[in-house]
Amino acid sequence: MAQLWGGRFTKETDKLVYQFNASISFDKRLFEQDIEGSIAHVVMLEKQGILTCEEKDAIVKGLTSIRKDVEEGNLTIADQYEDVHSFVEANLIDRIGDAGKKLHTGRSRNDQVALDMKLYVRAEVLNVSENLKELLATLLSIMENHLTTYMPGFTHLQKAQPTTLAHHMGAYFEMFKRDVLRLQDIYKRMNYCPLGAGAFAGTTYPLDRAYTASLMGFEGPTLNSMDSVADRDYVIEFLAALSTIMMHLSRFSEEIIIWNSNEYRFVEIDDGFSTGSSIMPQKKNPDIAELVRGKTGRVYGALMSILTTMKGIPLAYNKDMQEDKEVTFDAIETVKKCLVLFDGMLSTMKFNRNIMEESAMKGFTNATDAADYLVNKGVPFRDAHGIIGQLVLYCIKKNCSIDELSIEELKAISPVFDVDVYDVISLKTCVEKRLTIGAPGQDAMEEVIKINKRFLEQLHA
Ligand code: ARG
Repeated sequence: MAQLWGGRFTKETDKLVYQFNASISFDKRLFEQDIEGSIAHVVMLEKQGILTCEEKDAIVKGLTSIRKDVEEGNLTIADQYEDVHSFVEANLIDRIGDAGKKLHTGRSRNDQVALDMKLYVRAEVLNVSENLKELLATLLSIMENHLTTYMPGFTHLQKAQPTTLAHHMGAYFEMFKRDVLRLQDIYKRMNYCPLGAGAFAGTTYPLDRAYTASLMGFEGPTLNSMDSVADRDYVIEFLAALSTIMMHLSRFSEEIIIWNSNEYRFVEIDDGFSTGSSIMPQKKNPDIAELVRGKTGRVYGALMSILTTMKGIPLAYNKDMQEDKEVTFDAIETVKKCLVLFDGMLSTMKFNRNIMEESAMKGFTNATDAADYLVNKGVPFRDAHGIIGQLVLYCIKKNCSIDELSIEELKAISPVFDVDVYDVISLKTCVEKRLTIGAPGQDAMEEVIKINKRFLEQLHA
């Protein structure tokens, strides 16, 4: 056991207590951040005349060598330390002696861990954004290739009106675009540095908090030292954003599972992204989509967990907050993996154009347009609705689509029908007439694709 305290204790810590309290097994993930924060801290201490230049140099050198050794596998972050902070400090003192004992001047583990976690989450906000950008690029290229791939659009999972695959994919583009923008918001709001808050009341050393903040790329220092060590809002906001990403991925997965089913066959998931059954040789299962859908619960769980942990904590730091780490790390890794795998599945998936188009034809998705045709010929909408209803019933009995009926059959139901109806209710016309921005008509879609292309370029700039 190696710990940073003990002076006022007369007994050894119980072994189980020590283990229960220790966080090294999971906070070793914050190692890089701990070193980065410590270097910024001592550079500032020296600038402020609190450490000598020699002391600063020795500490920075020591910290750098610890980082190098861990990176190269010559030093393991072992469980005999209470947490990553103790690991770094103990190793530093081993290496450079007394100067190492000055690293913690004007700092508490409370502001130290608040900083480490913030640095970690901040970097992951960017990493997740990168994964989202990849997915957006895939979606955009599908959209560009399927402007005239007609398919049924659904409400209540019943075929409703015809649309295009580009339009359907475009809906997901908007969702993931909002996810990227949400992450940008979070980044801006969280980007203030808690270092220098001490245990919660600041310190009596003349620290330059703005300087350490700028060394680590923060907008500035946080403005209340009590809030600085007690705040995990940014973790909650990030987990809420991750949960929303998973909600989007899960809906998308659900659709792909349905579209990939033997009944639909709108898509075929690539062999590389499917799995087989141990007993049924014919099976090719959409396991990736199912797992993504399933893992959504786990990410929501992380959000619920932290919301609940934080809700009863009096100011300022309390050990409860150590519970912010494991679930957050797990949620981040889960979402990143899901995004990468989902993107792989989507970009290799085959879209069965003909089946989609036939499904739109067979599903009376042009019924609204047929009613509008009658309206344009002077029939009141409510009457037109009734006439087309009868027409649909007739088609169901005959097992055909509206456009397969002869003009005589159409006229028998309403004399208003004429041969021009066939063009009006063709899938192509039904879709291409929908030209307001946001609708599936080709011109409108091309406009939207242009806007979204610019959005993506801007993200990469
Ligand atoms: N392992 C702790 C955490 O993750 C570090 C902070 C400890 N601070 C303290 N006062 N015990 O929250």
